Amino acid sequence: MASIETLFGMHGKVALVTGGGRGVGRAVCELFAQAGARIAVCDIDETTAREVAGALPDAAGYRVDISNEDEVERTFAQAAERFGRLDALVHVAAIFPKRDFLTMTAAQWDEIQAVNTRGTFLVMREAIKAMKAGGRGGAIVNISSTSGERASVTNNSGYGASKAATTNLTRSMAIETAEVGIRINAVLPGAVATEGAKAATERMKDDGLQIGGPMTGAGRMPLGRVGQPLEIATACLFLASDASSYVTGISLPVDGGFLVS
Ligand SMILES: NC(=O)c1ccc[n+]([C@@H]2O[C@H](COP(=O)([O-])OP(=O)(O)OC[C@H]3O[C@@H](n4cnc5c(N)ncnc54)[C@H](O)[C@@H]3O)[C@@H](O)[C@H]2O)c1
Repeated sequence: MASIETLFGMHGKVALVTGGGRGVGRAVCELFAQAGARIAVCDIDETTAREVAGALPDAAGYRVDISNEDEVERTFAQAAERFGRLDALVHVAAIFPKRDFLTMTAAQWDEIQAVNTRGTFLVMREAIKAMKAGGRGGAIVNISSTSGERASVTNNSGYGASKAATTNLTRSMAIETAEVGIRINAVLPGAVATEGAKAATERMKDDGLQIGGPMTGAGRMPLGRVGQPLEIATACLFLASDASSYVTGISLPVDGGFLVS
């Protein structure tokens, strides 16, 4: 039987992580490094990307805005030059400003879609190109959200639409890349305790918006608590490693049971 190391280990592999500077992305970088991967830590915040990379055994930090086509192409090229191969993309970066639907401007709508939807398209496109060129297949893990499946909290419509797109892009491309050995899956967090989530809630209160919706209802979080970044990262490691070699196109909820409540 194959060893745990062969199944879940990432030795000799290179992973590019978007949004790696903090929160879930940072936990992914740290866990994947423990599993033996070399990591390209990518974030719009260059300082945190470099800090996270600097604390890992074999990693480099890159500043990239994933909504910008030139920057995404340049970053993948720089990572290819530095590491020589790409085995996994864990795409974590996203924004989640809470906005009232009726007063949201088209520019605010476009901002969410530019980062979360166009950004997902761009990083997937570049990762698939790099993996195809490498000829060894690979794994892509997109962090989507339960909000892409189900209305979860109020004032979150633009974000929910962008995450529905992320989950759908996962499925669409899974069937188009399977023949070259590239598996593509999504992880759907429910609520996770991160700096980004805390800041979004505080901004919402400042904007006078109500926090409500199914996810805040009694009994809707069967495990009775929000998740921690590491609990999302472990699901990513499963889907990026050979442990999930027969899994593609799925959406794995990591949500404390929200979607079945
Ligand atoms: N925290 C939650 O409750 C929750 C719930 C469901 C899904 N998610 C998803 O999990 C992922 C991580 O969320 P988090 O809570 O860790 O967020 P976070 O805000 O703490 O971290 C996100 C990171 O992405 C980076 N980023 C933002 N815009 C970028 C851009 N244009 N280009 C490159 N990097 C950019 C930020 O600088 C930051 O380091 C996101 O995809 C989010 O939608 C989070």
